[in-house]
Amino acid sequence: MTATRPQADGRLVFPTNFMWGAATAAYQIEGSTTVDGRGPSIWDTFAHTPGRVDGGDTGDVAAEHYRNFRDDVALMAELGLPAYRFSVSWPRVQPGGRGPANAAGLDHYSRLVDELLAHSVTPVLTLYHWDLPQELEDAGGWGVRDTAARFAEYAELVGARLGDRVPIWTTLNEPWCSAFLGYASGEHAPGRTDPALSLRAAHHLLLAHGYATHALRAVLPAAAQVSVTLNLCAVMPAVTSPAATNAVRRIDGLGNRLFLDPLFRGHYPADVQRDTRGLTDWSFVVSGDMDVISSPIDMLGVNYYTPTLVDAGTPSGAPSPWPACADVRFVSQPGPATAMGWAIDAQGLRNVVHRVHEEYAPIPLMITENGAAFDDELGSDGGVRDHERISYLRDHLAVVHEAIESGVDLRGYFVWSLLDNFEWAYGYSKRFGIVHVDYPTQRRVWKDSAYWYRQVINTNGIDV
Ligand code: FCB
Repeated sequence: MTATRPQADGRLVFPTNFMWGAATAAYQIEGSTTVDGRGPSIWDTFAHTPGRVDGGDTGDVAAEHYRNFRDDVALMAELGLPAYRFSVSWPRVQPGGRGPANAAGLDHYSRLVDELLAHSVTPVLTLYHWDLPQELEDAGGWGVRDTAARFAEYAELVGARLGDRVPIWTTLNEPWCSAFLGYASGEHAPGRTDPALSLRAAHHLLLAHGYATHALRAVLPAAAQVSVTLNLCAVMPAVTSPAATNAVRRIDGLGNRLFLDPLFRGHYPADVQRDTRGLTDWSFVVSGDMDVISSPIDMLGVNYYTPTLVDAGTPSGAPSPWPACADVRFVSQPGPATAMGWAIDAQGLRNVVHRVHEEYAPIPLMITENGAAFDDELGSDGGVRDHERISYLRDHLAVVHEAIESGVDLRGYFVWSLLDNFEWAYGYSKRFGIVHVDYPTQRRVWKDSAYWYRQVINTNGIDV
């Protein structure tokens, strides 16, 4: 299943079974946050707290996908989308995060999966894309071990109900964000600013992944694949100096190795433990935990958007998502950037996938998110001319192709996102969709990138 070299007409063709898809997440698109017995999540609480989200936006309505999922699946079918990555909202399944399943919540996802299958779209399911039931946060959230056990119970409930129809399962989306944006910088729910707590949270998230992997294996058919998705950093020094090299080591440690080492080597990186000794003695790691965390998985999901450039700097005292790194300075990479201010550089994706392939178990990889926000406007002709997004996607896909050619077992690519949606702390101000959403009317309009992506899928390749 190797990718073929560029053909005479300048096309890069992907392996025949390469999985093309688009991704979304429950809180970002569903809306309908109080129906069918759904309980509140930390994102409901956070978004409803003044000052937390730009414009006071919340996910109350979002892209109304919960109500209109059948139309959205029809749209996927028109796009010719072979796979769809979505997340299940934990508080729909267990409104308070524990106990028996809320039938109406599970029924919804069962209908969604049936609808996808009826349209020949493969469901790729994420169990946790950041919407922790609020009751669990009130009991300590990811700061306490019990949350990991609760997550395994939830995984079992969803696995038992949907395992017969969903072939690919992801436990967590980007645990780095849940731990460090949630509990250290407070930019994300639950908005805590306690660096020591954020390290405990990271461990409990990894433990949750391990327990859930076991729980899923017990209920899923043998052929189902279990994975976790990480947002790995392509960390580079802004200058050539020993201090910058040390800054790279520290950010690589917390952003990448803190997750990759436990998952694939069964231990935490010694340098990260040493650097953070002033914050914690790591006694939350209990005997047996590392075996649970390093249980074999079938695939690793990688989300990539932008590279990370660092140097040594002077501590500012502001809350940071990087514990014990106050003296690391983040430098903006010069050159083109997206509406998020994120530098556009596909080489970072190359760096990340090769690194994982070479340094960790040669595990199959999937790009579970990649994409860009731009200030898209609906033109007077009714179209959205998002050519910058097309070129972003094309450049990153060329890197994916090259990685496959050079032997990386990279099995699929999911564009973030299918639809414009609630971009967390940025609310609706940032548009990542290949399909435009007019929020007042909920009308969907294909951006040029959607037409382009349909062609990519259709021809299984890109023009270069
Ligand atoms: C990722 C998240 C996803 C989306 C993109 C832009 O970190 O997983 O939900 O917000 O960033």
